[in-house]
Amino acid sequence: MTIIDLAIKAAREAGDILQHFAARGFRVETKGRIDLVTEADLASEKHITSLIRQHFPTHHILAEESGGTAASDLGEEYYWIIDPLDGTTNFSHGFPCYAVSIGIERAGAPVAGVIYDPTRDELFAAERGSGARLNGRKITVSTVSVLEKALVVSGFPYDVRERMDEYLPAWREFLKTSQGVRRLGSASLDMACVASGRMDGFWENGLHAWDTAAGRVLVEEAGGKLTRLDGSPFDNFVPSLLCTNGLIHEQMLEVLSSCL
Ligand code: IPD
Ligand code: CA
Ligand code: CA
Repeated sequence: MTIIDLAIKAAREAGDILQHFAARGFRVETKGRIDLVTEADLASEKHITSLIRQHFPTHHILAEESGGTAASDLGEEYYWIIDPLDGTTNFSHGFPCYAVSIGIERAGAPVAGVIYDPTRDELFAAERGSGARLNGRKITVSTVSVLEKALVVSGFPYDVRERMDEYLPAWREFLKTSQGVRRLGSASLDMACVASGRMDGFWENGLHAWDTAAGRVLVEEAGGKLTRLDGSPFDNFVPSLLCTNGLIHEQMLEVLSSCL
């Protein structure tokens, strides 16, 4: 089985596990004051990591709930970066907006990304150099070129209560300068939305590598652009992301520079 085929199989099967728990109920625990983990997160992650170990025993893994190899300890081997349930707060409330996110890198360079939304049966997949697809059909970013006509999306990290004053100014500015601002509650789906042209731009502070590892490949392969919020080169392990269709990137950076 190829790497991308395994990533697709793992994401789909993990999505089925999430839907099984969504239908039957699940235990919820708290990791922080507003940061949850459910039985479904753990079961999804266990399934994905055991599939990888079975098929590619030498590959490294970093998964949100169980950790794994640190990026600094990597050699040339493949590196799977997994969010087994992105959108846990939505999931635990029964709000159907969550996904499984699996990114694969090698020697620090992105190789492939798969994001599966089990509530809509939508599978976003991209391999470096081969374009991005939604359920097998090629997708591209939008052609909106003016921020005033753009639909943009953001999210809040779990330290929002402590750092609200840092996060809210950008919301205020984008409410004034864009066509609309959304908060979906699943960063990987936010990125999939940019890749498929449903959204024109997405910014967020405080994301982790498992939130962005798959989405970065999708956005790039769909023709979009990623940087940090200050315009410097994007890095999965630095919690600062602006991704757009490319056309409104500079306009969003300009707005962000006025409030960072
Ligand atoms: C969260 C979601 C949310 C984002 C948070 C993430 P989780 O991931 O992606 O949209 O705003 O920063 O931590 O905890 O549901 O996997
Ligand atoms: Ca996440
Ligand atoms: Ca998660």
